[in-house]
Amino acid sequence: MRIPLIAGNWKMHKTAGDARELARAVKEGAVDVSDRQIAMAPPFTALAAVAEEIRGSRLILAAQNVHWEQKGAFTGEISVPMLEDAGCGMVIIGHSERRQYFGETDATVNRRLRAVLASRLQPIVCIGETLEQRESGKHHTVVQQQLAGGLDGLTRPGLLRIILAYEPVWAIGTGRTASPEIAQEMHSMVRGWLSGEFGDEAQEVRILYGGSVKPDNIDDLMRQPDIDGALVGGACLEPDSFLRIIHFRP
Ligand code: 13P
Repeated sequence: MRIPLIAGNWKMHKTAGDARELARAVKEGAVDVSDRQIAMAPPFTALAAVAEEIRGSRLILAAQNVHWEQKGAFTGEISVPMLEDAGCGMVIIGHSERRQYFGETDATVNRRLRAVLASRLQPIVCIGETLEQRESGKHHTVVQQQLAGGLDGLTRPGLLRIILAYEPVWAIGTGRTASPEIAQEMHSMVRGWLSGEFGDEAQEVRILYGGSVKPDNIDDLMRQPDIDGALVGGACLEPDSFLRIIHFRP
C-alpha cells in the first residue's frame, strides 16, 4: 500500500507574498483530494507564510534542504529543529542541483539523512544520472552508487520512513521527460536494489519520478507500477498546472 505523493519543489521562486497566493490556490483546488498526499517545498523565506496558509488542511509543508547539525556556527544553514518548528513534515535531500552547483556528495546526503531520520521529518532523497552517464551506459551503476552512499547505515525502520525521488538530470527543466517506460525501468531497478539490501520492505518504499512532469504526461507516468508519485519543478509554480498534476488519472 503505497499512497501516491505529489510534491512541488518551488526551487528559488516566489516571495512570501506570492507563495501565500499559490499555497492558497492549491489548498482550495485540492479540497476534494483524499487518496493521495500533496506536499509543497517553498524556499526557506516562505515556509512560515505557506505554513500559515495551509494550516488545518491535508497539505504537507516541505523544505528544499537541511543541515545535519542541530545548531552552531554554520552561517547560511538551516537545521532540522528549525524546519520542524516552521511546520515542515518533509524535506528534500540531495537534489541534483545541490549536487551540481553546491558540492553535495553522497556522503553529505548521508549525513543529512541521518539527522532527518533522528527527527519526525520525512526525507525525500533524490537520485539520478546525467545525460553523459546514461549515454555511456552507466546509469544503473551511478544510481546504485548514489543509493549505497546516500543510504549508508540505513536501518529497516529508517527505510520505512524514507521517500526516494528518481530525477534524471537530463530531464530536469529541459522539457524532455523520461518516457514512462524509461522511468519505470529505473524505478524497478531502484526497488530491486532496495530488495537486495532490505528484503520485502522495499515494496513499501515510495519512489517518485521527477523531471519535466507536466499535466500532459502525469497520467501515463502514474500508470507505471513502480512510480508512486512525482516531484514537480516548473509545473508546480502555477496553480492550474499543479492542480491538474495532483488530480492525475491513473
Ligand atoms: P522540472 O519539473 O522543472 O523539470 O524540475 C524537476 C525537479 O528538479 C524537481 O525537483
